[in-house]
Amino acid sequence: MSFLTDPLTLATGSVLENRFALAPLTNQQSNDDGTASEHDLHWFGQLAAGGYSMLTTAAANVQSNGKSFAGQLGIYDDRHIAGLSAMAEIAHRHGALASVQLHHGGAFARHDLIGSGALVGPSDDESTGARALTLPEVEQLRDDFVTAAACAQRADFDGIELHGAFGFILSAFLSPETNRRTDHYGGNPDGRSRLLREIIEGIRASCGSGFHIGLRLALSGQDPHLPELRDMVAVFLERGLVDYLDLVVRSLDTRVEVGLHTGELLVDLFTDLPRGTTLVGVSGDVMSAAGAQRALDHGSDFVFVASGAVVHHDFPQRALADQAYETPRPPLPASFFRDQGRSPAFVDYLEESLGFVEAR
Ligand SMILES: Cc1cc2nc3c(=O)[nH]c(=O)nc-3n(C[C@H](O)[C@H](O)[C@H](O)COP(=O)(O)O)c2cc1C
Repeated sequence: MSFLTDPLTLATGSVLENRFALAPLTNQQSNDDGTASEHDLHWFGQLAAGGYSMLTTAAANVQSNGKSFAGQLGIYDDRHIAGLSAMAEIAHRHGALASVQLHHGGAFARHDLIGSGALVGPSDDESTGARALTLPEVEQLRDDFVTAAACAQRADFDGIELHGAFGFILSAFLSPETNRRTDHYGGNPDGRSRLLREIIEGIRASCGSGFHIGLRLALSGQDPHLPELRDMVAVFLERGLVDYLDLVVRSLDTRVEVGLHTGELLVDLFTDLPRGTTLVGVSGDVMSAAGAQRALDHGSDFVFVASGAVVHHDFPQRALADQAYETPRPPLPASFFRDQGRSPAFVDYLEESLGFVEAR
């Protein structure tokens, strides 16, 4: 049995001092050129003082045409390094590990931010207008993920997390619905996961075994391809390809609704897999100390706090001090967020896109 106060060692040798990691949280506060702003540093500083053992940055785009949010953090140019270094330094000053989430929006990047006609994905996609990447472009994308990881290492981050969820480009390559390529980056599950594997191999070769690689995947009880995803995860775990998995679920109680595993608890289906030295973290509805402990009881090694951190940036400290701790549930008044020092841009984003703010 594990407890929230227990430290945990990654295969890289780095130590998580407790079982709370900060989930990636887009906050739309970066400068237009993707460099970190004063607001980014202020928010990261608030979080760093809140007791997380690892801080993950917001999704940072590895190519300019992967930009999916206004005010998104970038990691595709040397000009981004100074701000990223400041973020890593903030995390380390508070005893937390620091991880950059590497992202490319693919078909869900935004026209208005990247220029019309610039949307790309594994295959042509009528619904978004994205066009299929050519083979050299896929190789360039792979290399740019690797370069971005090297950039994170130069900025003194302890590692990176690959964003393989929510339809963004890496998850689009994994899915048989969005990846209909006929070259070796498509076809069977081995082909569709090739890009991810080559990125991981490239990062290991470039950054060494002391630099962690995490992988975020989203799990859905309605996914007809769940057994295939589970098989892929089993291979990744068996081969120790990544140092941690960040598995997103709607809640710990979500059950499989289709196919082979109907009725089973979604999270158990993945935490039951033999995992070797890979750690498994769960993200989804961690809004209380008891909820976090329940995730550990369901076999996760640690939890990622997301909405809970937006409500109380010092969620871990509160949860570690009080077993009965629970955050208030959004929506909350805009003043609640402003009073805690969230910037106007962040509060607008919480209000317009996420339903975190009560109607006035
Ligand atoms: C404000 C906000 C920003 C988010 N930004 C990101 C992001 O940049 N990358 C990502 O993979 N997930 C992002 N997510 C998803 C969270 O990391 C998390 O997986 C999800 O919200 C489920 O956890 P929760 O129920 O604790 O909120 C975001 C969620 C919120 C609420």
